[in-house]
Amino acid sequence: MSRRGGADPAHSAVDLRSRALDLTELMDDPDCDPRVLARTFRRFALVNALVSGWRSAWRTHIVPALPVDGRARVLDLGCGGGDLARAVVRWAASDGFDVEVVGVDPDPRAIDAASRRAPRGVTFRQQSSGELVAAGERFDVVVSNHVLHHLGDDERAGFLADSAALATSRSVHSDIRRSRSAYGAYALASPLVSAGTFVRVDGLRSIRRSFTLDELRDALPGGWRAERVAPHRVLAVRDA
Ligand SMILES: C[S@@+](CC[C@H](N)C(=O)[O-])C[C@H]1O[C@@H](n2cnc3c(N)ncnc32)[C@H](O)[C@@H]1O
Repeated sequence: MSRRGGADPAHSAVDLRSRALDLTELMDDPDCDPRVLARTFRRFALVNALVSGWRSAWRTHIVPALPVDGRARVLDLGCGGGDLARAVVRWAASDGFDVEVVGVDPDPRAIDAASRRAPRGVTFRQQSSGELVAAGERFDVVVSNHVLHHLGDDERAGFLADSAALATSRSVHSDIRRSRSAYGAYALASPLVSAGTFVRVDGLRSIRRSFTLDELRDALPGGWRAERVAPHRVLAVRDA
């Protein structure tokens, strides 16, 4: 049975030995308070900037996979509130790359939040990875943040197959690496940024659902590799 509301246990009592697949996030509840949800999407932009490590993954994993000439297309699958898509166009501009970013998410509430700030070079669409594959779309690089831990086994297999079909150069999916220290650090620091949002509860649940490096390696299909990046992060990478 999945747990929707209520208090999460004190962090010393939390069992982090295996993935807590029974936990769901408060923001996934279709009946959650829309004002709290809108604040949560905005606040996750700050949290992602602090913890997700994408600035360095942009340099090490996206830039080398961009085409040498012409405009590159990058896809952010499961874009949520859109902060990674916005960051990629910003970094591209400051590093001298011509990049168009498309952020997609099947959840209309996410696309509504993301579309409130869509700078030049970014478009947001309410679509799933499967719909993009069916439409015959292709992108140089496909990325996602915090989607892998969110999905069940079958959904994840479909998501990764879609990503492989959509990417002409590389797929890079980033997520939390589950550990006692990641959980403890987030439990201590998240109250500073979580007032009036689901950021604390959903972040702690996400850590409990997330993979260790070995678990991710075992979960990935052939052609994918799992990489540990510091601190508290893993990447699933596939070269086309
Ligand atoms: C935990 S949220 C992460 C949102 C955002 N990337 C972030 O880091 O804040 C996972 C998102 O993946 C989306 N998602 C799930 N399956 C998907 C699929 N097949 N294609 C695209 N998005 C998907 C969900 O709707 C959800 O918004």
